[in-house]
Order: sequence, then structure tokens, then C-alpha cells
Amino acid sequence: MVNVRKITEDITWVGANDHRLNLFENIHPIPQGVSYNSYLLLDEKTVLFDTVDWSACRQMIENIRHVLAGRPLDYLVINHLEPDHAACIEEILLIWPEVELFSTEKGFMLAKQFGFTVDKQVCHTVKEGDTFSFGKHTVTFIDAPMVHWPEAMVTLDLTDGVLFSADAFGSFIANDGKMFADEVDFDRDYLDEARRYLTNIVGKYGPHVQFLLGKAAKVLDKIKIIAPLHGLCWRKDLMYFIDKYDHWSKYVPEEKGVMIVYASMYGNTESAAQALAGRLCEKGMTNVHVFDVSNTHVSYLIANAFKYSHIVLASVTYNLNIYPVMFDFLDEMRMLHVQNRTCAIIENGSWAIKSGDLMQKFIEGNLKNMTILNERLTIASSAGEEKDGELDRLAQAIVDSMEEVSTDTH
Ligand code: FEO
Repeated sequence: MVNVRKITEDITWVGANDHRLNLFENIHPIPQGVSYNSYLLLDEKTVLFDTVDWSACRQMIENIRHVLAGRPLDYLVINHLEPDHAACIEEILLIWPEVELFSTEKGFMLAKQFGFTVDKQVCHTVKEGDTFSFGKHTVTFIDAPMVHWPEAMVTLDLTDGVLFSADAFGSFIANDGKMFADEVDFDRDYLDEARRYLTNIVGKYGPHVQFLLGKAAKVLDKIKIIAPLHGLCWRKDLMYFIDKYDHWSKYVPEEKGVMIVYASMYGNTESAAQALAGRLCEKGMTNVHVFDVSNTHVSYLIANAFKYSHIVLASVTYNLNIYPVMFDFLDEMRMLHVQNRTCAIIENGSWAIKSGDLMQKFIEGNLKNMTILNERLTIASSAGEEKDGELDRLAQAIVDSMEEVSTDTH
């Protein structure tokens, strides 16, 4: 059944929602689904901005046919070649063989790599600042390399002020009828998944996101609506979300707070982690969040590492090493360039207690601008009341170090 939403008088969302996919990119759980956003402009010419994942192709085609109402499709603008948006290019070419394509040079190169037969089409290779008019609407193209792939660009419709922002400003969670962030309680219900999307997908490329934000700032007065390829569009309070992106891409914590991540085999390290959480709350730091590394997908841990100022790592020693799942979290932080955080360590072991030193060495060797507190809680198998002083000193050191934290990006 047709399912479309107007973005402006001339631009319509013709995308689709996906609740069947369990793992985005076959790695990140999406329990609330995801949307693939495709937009259709009706002007003197008709223009499609990106397609959708192959699984949603039928829905998109039905939507496009409905909005076109018998008109041909004249142009397809390809902002991003990743198959969750580009998989249906060939289907478009089969149905509307006269369609002309716009993309970057690298975009067309990737199209061929993915096996899309674009050679017979008229291909407009666009560069930064190029403009094109479809009638009433004129668009300009802006390079967005590494947000999220090297070929990516964003397209600004100068007429309606719609920024087709590709992966930037996207989010997990299927739209399910909603289209604009002001139709939901975004901060309460969507922000966590927007953070998890951005930090895990593009977290590594903070400087590139900053580069794009810098370009957007120069044309901010022209942007009325942000229309990403996943999630909701923004037509109000754009700076709220731009500020979130500024924090994430500068690796500045959003909040003074503590995430305690524990790796526990028999509950003793967990018990220490919980005792620390309680002690922090007693001392007034109640923005504390505890995660079992073995039962929390690493994408959630990464999102929280980007959110909070402090990360406590509590790990048993396993095969004289860091507990493997904790190591995976550390390595994921390395890959995604987590930085500028204060860390504290709890270590456990029943004979050679190695995990604390090894975690400290990993952080010092692989993560930038991390402060590791000197206070450390060391446990031999289990902690009794004799460890109360150590626990208290650790909690106090965390609380004291909050004063050094800035959540300001300027
Ligand atoms: Fe949603 Fe980088 O693709």
C-alpha cells in the first residue's frame, strides 16, 4: 500500500520502514527498526534523491509511481552509494531507462564496483559547489567525504531550503508514520538511538563530520529542513541536533556522568561495580549507569562512552589477560577514536591479577587524551569490608575529577 509523507509542497518522502532487519550493517541491533528515506521532487522535471535498501524496493517503487502519477522520472541524485540507499538504482533504471544520474566521481566509481550498470545512462558528475536547476528548484552539491563513505555528498535545495544530508543527522528507529522530529519527544525517545547510530557508524570520522558542519554553518540561513537518509527530518530547533553532532564529532562528553562497565564471571566484580555506583550516588553523583559487558551489545557501550565524561572499567583477569569481551569494548573504542574521557579501573583475579595494568596500558597506548585516575580498586577473587577504604577513595576521586570536565564544545 502507498505510504508517503510531504516534506514540502513539492518534495515527498517515498521511502520505507524496516522492522525485519535484526542487525544494521549485519552488526548493530536495531530493535526499533530503521527507515530508509528517499525523497521525490516534482518540478518541471522530476527528481528522486537516493533510493532504499533492496528489501524495501517494492514499497519505494509503489510510492514513486503514486507520486509521479504517470509522469516520467527524469533524474536520480545519488548522495551516497552504500547499498542501504543505492541497492535499488538498477531497478529504477529498468523502470525509467531515460533517467539521468547525478553523483560524485567516486560515487559513479562505486556504482560500477557494486555492479550497477550505469554506463548507458547520462551521468552528471558533480563537484563541490556545482548547481543545477530542475525548474523552480535549484540545488547545489556539497562534498561530504567520509560521512560516511568517501564518495558521499549532500544536496541543498536552495528553493525550499531542504538539505538532503545523506547519513548525516540520521538515526535508528523506524519512522512509522512520523516524519519530523517535532512530531515526537525526540530527546526522550529518539536521542539515544540517534547517538548510537552516529557514534557507531561515523564515530571514527569526527573531523570529517566537523568539516561538513563547518560547510553547513556557512549556509545555515538557507537550510530550513534537514532530510537525512535514516530517521526523522528536522524543520524546527535545528541547532539542538547540530549541537549534538558537534559534541559527538569533537569527542566532547554531553554530560558529566559515569558509565561503569563490568566484566564479571561469578558476580564478585559485578558486586564491586554496583558498590561503586552506590557510593557515587551517596556522594551526589547520581548520573551513574552500570553495564554488564557480557550482556550489552558493544554499540550501546560505544554510544554511552560518547555520552558520559567518565568510564569505569571493571574486569576480571582471564587467561592472564583482559576479559575478552571487555577487550572487545576497549578495541572498539580505539577503532572509533573515543577520547577526552576520564577513566577509572577495577581489577579482579584469583592468582595473577593482570587486568588493571593491561587495561591501563591499552588505554595509554591507543586512546587519545584519556585521564586515568591513580586510585584503583584491586580485588583478589572477592571484595569484603576491608576494601571499603579503597572503594571510597576511588569514588571520591571520580567525584573530585568531575570539576575538571567541560561539556562545552566552544
Ligand atoms: Fe545509511 Fe552509510 O549508509
